[in-house]
Amino acid sequence: MATIRIPEQDRTITEPAAVAAYLSSVGIDYERWQPAHPVAADAPAEEVLAAYKDEIERLKARGGYVTADGIDVKPATPNLEQMLAKFRQEHWHDEDEVRFILRGRGVFHIHPAERPVIALEVEAGDLIRVPRGTHHWFDLCADRDIRAIRLFQDATGWTPHYTDSGVDRRFEPVCLGPAYIPR
Ligand SMILES: [Fe+2]
Repeated sequence: MATIRIPEQDRTITEPAAVAAYLSSVGIDYERWQPAHPVAADAPAEEVLAAYKDEIERLKARGGYVTADGIDVKPATPNLEQMLAKFRQEHWHDEDEVRFILRGRGVFHIHPAERPVIALEVEAGDLIRVPRGTHHWFDLCADRDIRAIRLFQDATGWTPHYTDSGVDRRFEPVCLGPAYIPR
């Protein structure tokens, strides 16, 4: 289950209904999906996409997405820091950013117009849609571990427009982790 931090307000939201309601209020679609198809930790992207074919088709039909890919990051991933450097600068896209997290965790910072920046920590089972035009950036948690399915409306894939606002430098990608969530 995702959690939200609002650093400006020193506020953390972990209660599932409250997380979903807050995200909805800033235009982010959020759902919990069970990662129901076990795939080996070292399975290639094609295998992951094949295992989740039905789910991907459902999402494609719903949102007009034309392509999907699998992203799998571990500390040993080549050029990891260069890759993260592209994601962690504030940007927006001409299309929705849709991610279904299958393993690991990461932090989306979302910067809605006229609202405070939120840090949305996602984990396995989280499905999010950041609508086109929304200012945001992304980073991994310290353990540098995530597997996710990405969907695109544009066949060319991930194209960012950087804002160059510098706002991203004011926020640390702090991950609370599963231990923080009240049981
Ligand atoms: Fe993005």
